[in-house]
Amino acid sequence: MNELDSLIDEARARFGSAVNPVELENAKALYLGKAGRLTSLMKGLSALSVEEKKSQGAAINLAKQAVEAALQARRSELAEAELQRQLEAEALDVTLPGRSVGQGGLHPVSLTLERIERLFGSMGFDVAEGPEIETDWFNFTALNTPEDHPARSMHDTFYVEAGDDSAPHLLRTHTSPMQIRHAVQHVKRHRASLDAGQGMPEIRVIAPGRTYRVDSDATHSPMFHQCEGLWIGENVSFKDLKVIFTGFCRAFFESDDLALRFRPSFFPFTEPSAEIDIQFATGPLAGRWLEVAGSGQVHPNVVRNMGLDPERFIGFAFGMGPDRLTMLRYGVDDLRLFFDGDLRFLRQFH
Ligand code: FA5
Ligand code: MG
Repeated sequence: MNELDSLIDEARARFGSAVNPVELENAKALYLGKAGRLTSLMKGLSALSVEEKKSQGAAINLAKQAVEAALQARRSELAEAELQRQLEAEALDVTLPGRSVGQGGLHPVSLTLERIERLFGSMGFDVAEGPEIETDWFNFTALNTPEDHPARSMHDTFYVEAGDDSAPHLLRTHTSPMQIRHAVQHVKRHRASLDAGQGMPEIRVIAPGRTYRVDSDATHSPMFHQCEGLWIGENVSFKDLKVIFTGFCRAFFESDDLALRFRPSFFPFTEPSAEIDIQFATGPLAGRWLEVAGSGQVHPNVVRNMGLDPERFIGFAFGMGPDRLTMLRYGVDDLRLFFDGDLRFLRQFH
């Protein structure tokens, strides 16, 4: 093999082992640069005879073309490799499953509240909402529960400093203050008619919302929900309470032979009074009774605080626990689970 052939082989090998464009350009300089081997061979031609110049010159040119071709080929290879590397680095795997946003759903107690509103709505009840921070007057006094009344001790709660000399405020312990708030508004609207000795449309309302007490066990949460019900007219009796509440419960639980009992009880704001219990149909507590509401015929003093004449107007009220209805509906044995915020539990009700 002559000198030029081995030079070409050597150049090909060097180019081949260059792994990036910088190494390749350095290798190129060894052969084709100003001080490169082929360049100096060309320069050496001047010392030769005309005949030798011709043959040697042609041979060197061929060698130079071969080296340039090898250089070009390696440049393309490296460029291609670089492109591949980039494509891989920036690759989007379109076969990967997308990141799901997660499907939301209503809280089981919200589902119960919606159901309550729909069912009572179908029986002609309005829906009213009131403040969770309530005055002592609406929460207790107006409900026939004066400051020294022992029934207050069962409703311990947070008291809020109002900052001035205004009435004491507290986190409401039940939704019953809405009986007074709603009735007072209603009576105000119909004052003229009442003063003229005419009647007024009946008060028929429910008032759902959050309530607070110093309570915590499997059937009591410090924050819980209640839904008040109030029906006041000229001829509304305890019998109507039983019919309405029993009808509601049967519709709510979709069961015509629902086990429900009215148990004599006491509230300062009703007389007579009853608490209402329902039996668990499913779950670990199946067969056990759970109190779901307090109720009764509205006390004459409360009717008076509504701005009405208790000799003429009469009716019933109840305050039920939607959280407890939710326990019964799904057979859940601890109400606090609803408020722990554990999605594994809550997702079951979507
Ligand atoms: C009352 O709160 C009366 N205001 C109800 C009432 C209204 C009586 C109108 C007469 C006329 P009681 O404390 O029993 O009553 O509560 C009523 C219902 O609220 C209970 O039956 C229960 O279902 C629910 N409840 C009470 N405390 C809690 C609690 N800590 N956690 C969850 N639910 C509760
Ligand atoms: Mg009770």
